Amino acid sequence: QISTNTSSTVPQERTGRKENVQPQAKLLDIPEWKHNTTLTARIRKDILKFLDAEKDISVLKGKLKAGDIIHYIFDRDRTLNISHTLYELLPRTSPMKNKHFRQCAIVGNSGILLKSGCGQEIDAHQFVIRCNLAPVEEYAQDVGLKTDLVTMNPSVVQRAFEDLKNETWKEKLLHRLKMLDGGILWIPAFMAKGGEERVEWVNNLIVKHKLHLQTAYPSLRLLHAVRGYWLTNKVLIKRPTTGLLMYTLATRFCDEIHLYGFWPFPKDQKGNAVKYHYYDSLTYEYNSRATPHTMPLEFKTLRNMHLQGALKLNVGACR
Ligand code: CTP
Repeated sequence: QISTNTSSTVPQERTGRKENVQPQAKLLDIPEWKHNTTLTARIRKDILKFLDAEKDISVLKGKLKAGDIIHYIFDRDRTLNISHTLYELLPRTSPMKNKHFRQCAIVGNSGILLKSGCGQEIDAHQFVIRCNLAPVEEYAQDVGLKTDLVTMNPSVVQRAFEDLKNETWKEKLLHRLKMLDGGILWIPAFMAKGGEERVEWVNNLIVKHKLHLQTAYPSLRLLHAVRGYWLTNKVLIKRPTTGLLMYTLATRFCDEIHLYGFWPFPKDQKGNAVKYHYYDSLTYEYNSRATPHTMPLEFKTLRNMHLQGALKLNVGACR
């Protein structure tokens, strides 16, 4: 049940204008930042009313068993069988149990990172979260290498690893996973139909090669809980992006959260073209109704939170 609490803790911008007529130029301006520890603590407490990231970051072994059939969160009429491999890879205890960090970086995948020189700065954070197995080695100067948690939507196996159609692509994925070196691979396996086989392929690779990484499969309630939290703050998000999910989870473990690579606009502050992803040539219609996300609305919210000192948005160069 979603509460309709009106006492908003996520700062709304006090411009006197309606949200949807906020001029883009203003949105692109990211002013100086000062951490607001009181607000950060309040946001953490409020999010905890909806979800506990320590628990919701992954379903644990006791909760499901091999052979169970579950309904996908977005496609309720479609089901998924919990395979033996998936069961084997469910963690026994939360990979984030008792974890606490002073500074965390969440790295989104926008092309705004290119030529940023932010790699070292990102890697200096105690905990670094990345999205969708984005490549790092070739872009280390701009995005860094350290990866403590990386997400993997099942669609990434198709988009970035050609559905493992031959040994070359399997090797590429293996190489990327080996780089995690003890880090967490976060696979939203229960969200949307169509990914069952892909998740199984990846799980099989992990088991077969005894990869040194921790697996996590977000809880069935996570998505609704995240939406619920943002909704009580009057941010109506159809389907939160991975980036927003990561921010919401990270509030539980991180005192300061610094975002990099969040820029859902086709141009930078100077009017230069910005790629959707720093590493491929995909294009994206940020404002299209057809896309599942509302990235510009999310960005506006994150920017407002930056203004109030709850999180730090980095969009420029780091030197
Ligand atoms: N992002 C952004 N601006 C971009 C691209 C990405 O702000 N131009 C942020 C979004 O929060 C996004 C995250 O970086 O979720 C990771 O990017 P990507 O892998 O492209 O995410 P999506 O493909 O949108 O995947 P998902 O549907 O899981 O969010």
